[in-house]
Amino acid sequence: MRPSNIFEVYEDQRGKRKSLFTKNLIKGNPVYGERIFRNQGEEFREWDPSRSKLAATIMKGSTNVGIRKGDVVLYLGAASGTTPSHISDMVGESGFVFGVEFSPRVLRDLVFVAEKRKNIIPILADANKPLSYAGRIVVADIVYQDVAQRNQAEIFLKNCKYFLKPGGYGLLAVKAKSIDISRRPRDVFNEVRQDIEKELIIIDYRELGPFEKDHCMYICKKK
Ligand SMILES: C[S@@+](CC[C@H](N)C(=O)[O-])C[C@H]1O[C@@H](n2cnc3c(N)ncnc32)[C@H](O)[C@@H]1O
Repeated sequence: MRPSNIFEVYEDQRGKRKSLFTKNLIKGNPVYGERIFRNQGEEFREWDPSRSKLAATIMKGSTNVGIRKGDVVLYLGAASGTTPSHISDMVGESGFVFGVEFSPRVLRDLVFVAEKRKNIIPILADANKPLSYAGRIVVADIVYQDVAQRNQAEIFLKNCKYFLKPGGYGLLAVKAKSIDISRRPRDVFNEVRQDIEKELIIIDYRELGPFEKDHCMYICKKK
């Protein structure tokens, strides 16, 4: 186990098999049944790239996802907290993950995760209506979005406009089939690129297969 190129992410290489880990903020507590490894008094949670688009992005070679210890992250589409829990490990006790999720049933599971992880703040809201939660978050170092909606790019740009600090990073996971099931994923990805580069600087792009078929990740910076 050794630090990877990505801040706060660890890796282990056995032959051809590489595994990713984050340092467990709440020792002894796995979040979604992931494996836990102990090494020199520290605890590491395995981060499965088939269950997290951010882990898949790192596995596909991204060298900078922008997230640092102490960051404030606005996470849109937090679901039950799989990826948010790893980001919670990355930002640590001095950071925060504001997790926006519009399904009450799913958010309930995130609330259980947040009971232990005090740096996760669940917000029941529609990411399409950023003004509805504007009073609960001020400025974010990172906006991360994974909502699988038809207007994914529009939702992302709105939230970056309201909440992302200048120089902050925006990470957009795009699911091609949610935008248009009939078109080739790469054509959909290119259309999204044209929309987001009007307002943000794209610094990295990764297609996420085979971990996540027909998905890509855009990593952007606010001017
Ligand atoms: C693919 S899942 C997210 C998985 C999560 N990002 C992870 O890696 O652990 C997408 C989630 O976005 C939520 N969602 C979709 N549209 C939304 C919206 N407009 N506002 C808030 N949440 C939304 C869905 O309810 C679902 O839980």
